[in-house]
Amino acid sequence: MRALNVPAAGEQPRLSDLPVPAPVEDTVLVRVKAAGLNALDNALAAGMMAEMLPHVYPLVLGRDAAGVVEAVGAGVDHVAIGDEVIGHMLLVPPIQAGTLAEYALLPAAAVTRKPTGLDFTAAAALPLAAAAAKAAVDAIEPRPGQTVLVVGAGGGVGSYTVQLLAARGVTVVATATAVDTDRLTTLGATTVIDYTAGPVAQQVATVYPDGVDALIDLVAYTPDTAPLELVRKGGKVASTLGAADEQALAALGLTGTSVMATPVREVIAELAEQVTAGTLKVDITTVLPLENATDGLATLASGTARGKIVIEIGD
Ligand SMILES: NC(=O)c1ccc[n+]([C@@H]2O[C@H](COP(=O)([O-])OP(=O)(O)OC[C@H]3O[C@@H](n4cnc5c(N)ncnc54)[C@H](OP(=O)(O)O)[C@@H]3O)[C@@H](O)[C@H]2O)c1
Repeated sequence: MRALNVPAAGEQPRLSDLPVPAPVEDTVLVRVKAAGLNALDNALAAGMMAEMLPHVYPLVLGRDAAGVVEAVGAGVDHVAIGDEVIGHMLLVPPIQAGTLAEYALLPAAAVTRKPTGLDFTAAAALPLAAAAAKAAVDAIEPRPGQTVLVVGAGGGVGSYTVQLLAARGVTVVATATAVDTDRLTTLGATTVIDYTAGPVAQQVATVYPDGVDALIDLVAYTPDTAPLELVRKGGKVASTLGAADEQALAALGLTGTSVMATPVREVIAELAEQVTAGTLKVDITTVLPLENATDGLATLASGTARGKIVIEIGD
């Protein structure tokens, strides 16, 4: 099968032929129709997580997929050969299998039937980013009428976060560049702050002088680079990058959570239902063939991704 893989530690990803994996217990072999890209793909390609999780090479990139079940391993009875499914390659060691390939061997725990109203490309853009958005929104327990700042709203996780917050009756303040103002407003943002036009804290304080009730930060790696001063005392913070440091937040009278997405099948199914019900939009800005998947990864690496990038594979 053709697969985008890192042949050995430290090497660049390349498209080459690899054997089709054979299903083992509690796995589902999927003929991939589409695979969504995530920032995590670049981190794994660069070996950034190799000290935490053993990597085995050649390492196939890609975590999200939608496709058709080709075979199932022992113990799998919730999907069958021929079913159209959405799935995610959970971050379980060893890191070796991926979805940017003609076939992906996915853990059964993260494979669910794809609703018929959802096409493969949209389905593949859901698992990790939407699950991360859900985790971040759940973590701050937003109430209707509250104001929540989303930093880094222009990307994949941000596009879902803005919508999930707006659906809960929250006033959403989103940071992005000016080119994304209309896109994020359509998704439910009340105010879009251009983070390239000046300090975010200053710009937000001008519009919301009393600050915000909560912050979801998708950009900062450390608390000192997140605009915590905007969050009112007693407010909540969620970070997808480990920036919600308990001590730093407590010093400001805040609480917070550094969230980890859990794109298991129950979560993916719930998000997919929201899409088919029309309450959640899949915001895809770029669709590429497998041959050009590295272009999509380069866009993510440059920090300028807008919405989701999806790779279409096969016929
Ligand atoms: N913890 C977890 O389970 C989990 C799960 C998924 C993702 N993540 C992490 O969460 C982060 C966001 O993921 P993603 O998929 O949304 O990434 P993404 O698609 O690359 O989006 C990142 C966005 O951040 C924006 N941005 C860059 N620098 C910024 C700044 N200084 N201020 C405001 N916005 C800025 C970019 O917007 P512009 O294009 O407007 O510059 C880009 O749209 C990534 O770092 C990812 O690794 C964590």
